[in-house]
Amino acid sequence: MNEHIASIQTQALELIAVASDARSLDDARVSVLGKKGSLSLAGAAIKDVPKEEKAAFGQSLNAARTAITSAIEEKQAAIQQIADRAALAGIDITLPARALPTGALHPLTQIRDEATHILRCMGFALADGPEIEDEFHCFDALNTPADHPARNEKDTFYFDSGKLLRTHTSSVQIRTMETATPPIRIIAPGSAYRRDEIDATHLSVFNQLEGLYVDTDVTLPDLKGTLEYFFHEMFGTTTEVRFRPHFFPFTEPSFEIDVKLQVKGQAPRWMEVAGCGMVDPAVFEVINSNRKDDALNPEKLTGFAFGMGLDRLAMIRWGIKDIRLLIENDTRFLSQFA
Ligand code: PHE
Repeated sequence: MNEHIASIQTQALELIAVASDARSLDDARVSVLGKKGSLSLAGAAIKDVPKEEKAAFGQSLNAARTAITSAIEEKQAAIQQIADRAALAGIDITLPARALPTGALHPLTQIRDEATHILRCMGFALADGPEIEDEFHCFDALNTPADHPARNEKDTFYFDSGKLLRTHTSSVQIRTMETATPPIRIIAPGSAYRRDEIDATHLSVFNQLEGLYVDTDVTLPDLKGTLEYFFHEMFGTTTEVRFRPHFFPFTEPSFEIDVKLQVKGQAPRWMEVAGCGMVDPAVFEVINSNRKDDALNPEKLTGFAFGMGLDRLAMIRWGIKDIRLLIENDTRFLSQFA
């Protein structure tokens, strides 16, 4: 091997041997292999080497480069290993990992999915409608006159445009009947809005599930049977359900449905969970008069409708005393439903 190159290699290997960290090792590398490093400069001299010695010179150069490069790599690995050990000092890698919190469905989502599932099994299809509604779909078409208290500015959120946040999901009944051809069997879960004072049982945004069944021979026993079955599926077959006569402008007769609530350590009490009734012919009439096909002719059809409060169902299911817990997103509360 060319003597000069051999001495460069020896020096280089010494430098590498004494390098104690990544930085001094890199300095050593640059001083030998860098652009102006000793071996690079020696290599540049190949042009002055006599022709017959060029091959041997080149070989020495390559051999030196290979030896130095692998010495650097070995040293790098050794330095890394020392650094890794230092980083792990004092850490017990056999300890179990910290558990990551897993997400879960919100109780309202669980109740909505369950209610939807029960009703879909009974043949109801999902329908939808806008939360920003007009007065026609929210009130007029539902036989609710202009002076009805539900339309009061104090009770409803109105926009300057005259539109409003729907006060119930019953507007979806109208939107569906405007285009569908009977028999109609739909449910529509969704948000509803009222300008209520917020307390343990009221929120200004809450969740309803609307239902509508329209066909040639729908009767009151169909309504009772369907909803009784629903609440028994939801809360167990021994749950008491009662239908209390009530008034809604768009159903006749109308009822409110109460479910008997049995919370451990509390006296049993009735809790209102839904409104329902037989579709008022006046509702069919308004929609039919806007249709060309006479498909909603009140002479030929009957139907029932219901609207239940999903928040209420969740409160009954889990004995939740304050509805506000459902919108506060406190994980200490929510993690109980995981
Ligand atoms: N929309 C009524 C309410 O919000 C409930 C209801 C729906 C009543 C359908 C009868 C029929 O109170």
